[in-house]
Amino acid sequence: MLSRQLGEKLKKYETPFYLYDIALLRQTLESVSSAARQHGYKVHYAIKANYDSKILSIIREYGLGIDCASGNEVRKAIEMGFDPKTIVYAGVGKRDKEIRYAIEQGIMAINCESIEELEVVNQISCEMGVRTDVALRVNPDIDPKTNRCIDTGQADSKFGISYEEIIAETPKIQALRNLNIIGLHLHIGSQIRELHVFENMCNKVNVIVARLERMGYKFRFVDVGGGLGINYDVPENEPIPNFASVFSIVHNHLEVDGKEVHFEFGRSIVGECGELISTVMFNKTTATGRKLLIIDASMTELIRPMLYGSYHNIENITADTDTTEKYTIVGTACESTDVFDSNVTMPTSRRGDLLTIKSAGAYGMSMASNYNLHDLPGAVYSDEIE
Ligand SMILES: Cc1ncc(COP(=O)(O)O)c(C=O)c1O
Repeated sequence: MLSRQLGEKLKKYETPFYLYDIALLRQTLESVSSAARQHGYKVHYAIKANYDSKILSIIREYGLGIDCASGNEVRKAIEMGFDPKTIVYAGVGKRDKEIRYAIEQGIMAINCESIEELEVVNQISCEMGVRTDVALRVNPDIDPKTNRCIDTGQADSKFGISYEEIIAETPKIQALRNLNIIGLHLHIGSQIRELHVFENMCNKVNVIVARLERMGYKFRFVDVGGGLGINYDVPENEPIPNFASVFSIVHNHLEVDGKEVHFEFGRSIVGECGELISTVMFNKTTATGRKLLIIDASMTELIRPMLYGSYHNIENITADTDTTEKYTIVGTACESTDVFDSNVTMPTSRRGDLLTIKSAGAYGMSMASNYNLHDLPGAVYSDEIE
């Protein structure tokens, strides 16, 4: 882990900040792109995971496309030099101006998530005098066996169009003259660690594609989304996720001969490359005897533990003692839920010690906020440290 190697060297930077391991990012990109190449798969980076410009410019070097969830994400991808023809845009609530912008840019596909959205994209395309490439985002009703806050493909989810509704509404969908329905899209959830879930997904997709093609749809591509999980418990054991395993499951189970197969990975590409570095500010003990470690980061820099109950491994990287304590690690925000973790056994920690909150490269900085008028955290890149 990079921060452990750097230790005291990091004390010259104002905390809290994100530390990015650029060598690990490159190794991860090499791994995903070479494994994808073996099967002819196309990979999009889910830009929502981290919008950092330097990270995006490195990702671009490896030829990945982009998956977006808003008009501004499409704009950022285009500003960063990604080819619009490699950009897909999903999201349940696209504003008219966002749809118009995506159409103007000629992106690869707008992944539509409701019948009404298909009608609106058709209407706007008609007004603009164009035919727009779209994909149907289907809700496949699959349990991704992950934290329920981040599952997106179960029957009652807000994401995607139910398979039954697509079938029932096919005459209406196929009458939309200003749309080219070129793809089928799905994304069943995030932080998936039980890889057999991807096998279930393929089996479902096979049925859906075959049935819809019998009904007259002609899909050029199937985009099976992202979701590959990372090792938050012991990141050192698995710094690069096993992309080859997912690809091999899909290769063995997905039966869509002749179609392009696309993936949209976010967390698995950038998650392990980032750590949030924070300084211990104060120690205090509650009336009940709980030892609190108050650090200068909070939910405004990394909200995942407070939003989803997600676990991040935390370590003191500058402690100089062998004695340990059990701590509850809390942030500075004016919220009782601003707790990173409880019952963490760590070396006795003092004011000025540096902590790392590991595996924070995905959905960390991109979810940061100015709540309490906190400044946004900075970024330190490993290849710029002297
Ligand atoms: C449509 C879509 N694709 C891809 C992703 C990326 O998922 P992950 O970061 O788990 O790979 C997400 C995440 O929310 C998503 O909603």
